[in-house]
Parts: sequence; structure tokens; C-alpha cells
Amino acid sequence: MNIVIIGVALTFEIKATGRAVPQRRVSNEELAQKIDTSDEWIWSHTGIKARHIADAETASSDLGVKAAWNALEMAVERGAYAEKTVEELAFTLDMIIVATTTPDFYGCPSTACLIQNKLGAKNAGAMDISAACSGFIYGLETAAGLLSAGKGRKRCLVIGCEILSRFIDWNDRGTCVLFGDGAGAVLLEKTDAPREGAERRGLLRTLLRADGAGSKNLIIKKGGSRNAYRAGDVFEFAPLIEMNGHAVYNFAVHAVTEIIKDLLEAERLTVDELRWIVPHQANARIVQAATKRLGFPREKFFLNIDEYANTSAASIPIALDELNREGHLKKGDIILCVGFGAGLTYGGNLIVW
Ligand code: COA
Repeated sequence: MNIVIIGVALTFEIKATGRAVPQRRVSNEELAQKIDTSDEWIWSHTGIKARHIADAETASSDLGVKAAWNALEMAVERGAYAEKTVEELAFTLDMIIVATTTPDFYGCPSTACLIQNKLGAKNAGAMDISAACSGFIYGLETAAGLLSAGKGRKRCLVIGCEILSRFIDWNDRGTCVLFGDGAGAVLLEKTDAPREGAERRGLLRTLLRADGAGSKNLIIKKGGSRNAYRAGDVFEFAPLIEMNGHAVYNFAVHAVTEIIKDLLEAERLTVDELRWIVPHQANARIVQAATKRLGFPREKFFLNIDEYANTSAASIPIALDELNREGHLKKGDIILCVGFGAGLTYGGNLIVW
């Protein structure tokens, strides 16, 4: 006798995407007028041509709200919620998860709560994720977990938003040329789409990993409970990003390679079945090195680092939004997102669009 066990497999679809980057675009040439660098060095060592930098009044939540609103507008415009206005859709959100390394305030309140208020998402819970540049990967899986665990929870915004320009040492040319500001958002929803077969949709599998032994290689030392501010402090070190570039580079190549291999193996997929690999946009050379190790075609990897530089937790949702708006994603496409960053953290999501 054959026994068939039918599991209740929930699926989580990305219904819409959005992004927001500051208008001010700073090219490598402009940077080279202020610090000792050149377009040639930055381009050949990183694949970066420009970054967008926020004005002094803009904080991470401001960019996060714009990206979120952009995603909600897409959801309404593309007919997924034809009967609702954007405000009404915001009102139906059950959860807002914000991945950021550069919150508006350290400690509290969370940037997610500030965004929840600005969106008028009165029915949503809100919390931040601290996983640096892997934050979106961690955030998407957390959102799926919360949607599947909570009865009556259906709809969640996952946002990555960063103002890195305020935490960069502009005198450290090995670091400051790498980063930019920006935000990306996705609207995730619990759906009835099947988990198997040609009609399957949603988040197939996520891997979340960490190596805290490397925590010193990418760190903001000042401002937390280890090195709190006190009145009258003379700064021993500033509240800025410090990075061991070589160590992070080696870790990143290893992390990207490991996650891609393990995700494909776990879901018994080949690279040919992937439509896109969307890596965290930190350095095009990291992606090139991983591509070579894996023996994959370069065209599988989507890169937009030339325009935005490294926007940390925002880089993957910005990339997804670009692909989506430019019509490069079709229903049923399989996309592998892979992230790595401070912590050290790394991980990946396999998504069926
Ligand atoms: N412009 C011009 N020269 C620069 C420079 C810049 N912006 N930054 C560094 N240099 C110089 C160095 O001073 C060094 O000069 P020297 O040989 O005279 O001492 C030379 O370029 C080589 O420096 P090096 O650090 O060896 O370069 P690299 O090829 O290893 O590239 C990074 C440096 C930072 C681009 C690379 O290590 C990297 O990308 N690491 C990962 C960083 C990252 O992705 N962080 C975020 C992860 S989420």
C-alpha cells in the first residue's frame, strides 16, 4: 500500500518591488577631485563608476519610506490590488521588516517603527534586522517565517535602507570609494500558489549563515554599549566603518561560492535553470572571482554596482527592482539572491518569481 503524505506547504510571493536613491550622483571623477584616488583605480579594482549620496536632512527611514511607497504603488498600478488605493494597501500590511546598518537612531526606536508611522501602516508590527549587507536575505526569510507562524498574517514589507555616506571615513580611500546611499523594498504576501510544478511561486529555500570570528574585519566601534558615548568624550576612534579589505574580500568570494553551490544542491537545480543570480553589490571583482570558481557564465549574474556602489542591505532589493521594472523577470523565473557582510554574515534566497 502506498501512503501519500500531503504537507501544508505555504508559499510567499513577491508581489511588487520599489527603490529610492538620492538624486545627487557622485562620479569617480568628482571624488578624485577631493581625495587621492582616480576613476581608473576605482573602476579597475571594484567596477564602480558612481554612487548616490543623500543630503544632510535625509535619514535612512526617509529613503526606506520612498522605496516602500514605490513598491506599494507598483502593486496597485499592476492590478494586484485594483480595488485599493496605496494608502489602503499600506493599512492592510501585517508586518514591516527593515534591514539597515545605518538606522536613524542607535538602539531605539527602530527604523521600522519610523517607517510604519510615515506609511500610515497602522495594523503592522515593525522591527529592524541587524545583519549588515546580508540584511535583506535575513529579512526575507524572517518575513516568511512570521507570515507562516502567525494566524491571520498575510502581507509584509521587507525594506533595506542605508545612509552609509554618514558612517564612512572620507579620509580612508580604501573604504570610502566603495559605498553609497539607497533603499529597496519588496512586498511579500502569503499566497495559494502551489509549492511544486510549473505553477509554483515564491520563496523556495533560504540559507542563513554567520562567522562571528570575523567580526573585527568590518566594524563601527564607537557608539554601542562596548564603547558608549559619554559627555565630554575625546574620541579615541570615530563612529565610522573600519574595514580589513583583504580579509573581507577573501571571505566574500568564499561565501558567495558556498551559498550558490549549497542552494542549488539542496533544491537539485542546475545553473541553467536559474534566470538570474543577484549578488550583494559590493565589488564586481568578488563576483568575477566567484564566477570563475563556480565555472558559471558571467551573464547569469546581475550587476548594477557601477551606478550605485555598495548600498549594503539595500543593494539586493534595488537590483530586484531594476530587473523587475525593466521587464527582465517573468513569472516562473528562478532567481538566486546571495548576500554577505559585517558580522560576518552571509546567506541566500532561492525565489520563483
Ligand atoms: N585609490 C587609489 N589607490 C588606492 C585606493 C583608492 N581608492 N585604495 C587603495 N589604494 C591603493 C593602496 O594604498 C595600495 O597602494 P600601495 O600598493 O602603494 O600600498 C594599492 O592601492 C593596493 O591596495 P589594496 O588594498 O591591496 O587593493 P585591493 O586590490 O586589495 O583592493 C579593496 C582593495 C578594498 C577594493 C578590496 O580589498 C575589496 O574590495 N575588499 C572587500 C571590501 C568589501 O566588499 N567590503 C564590503 C563587504 S559587504
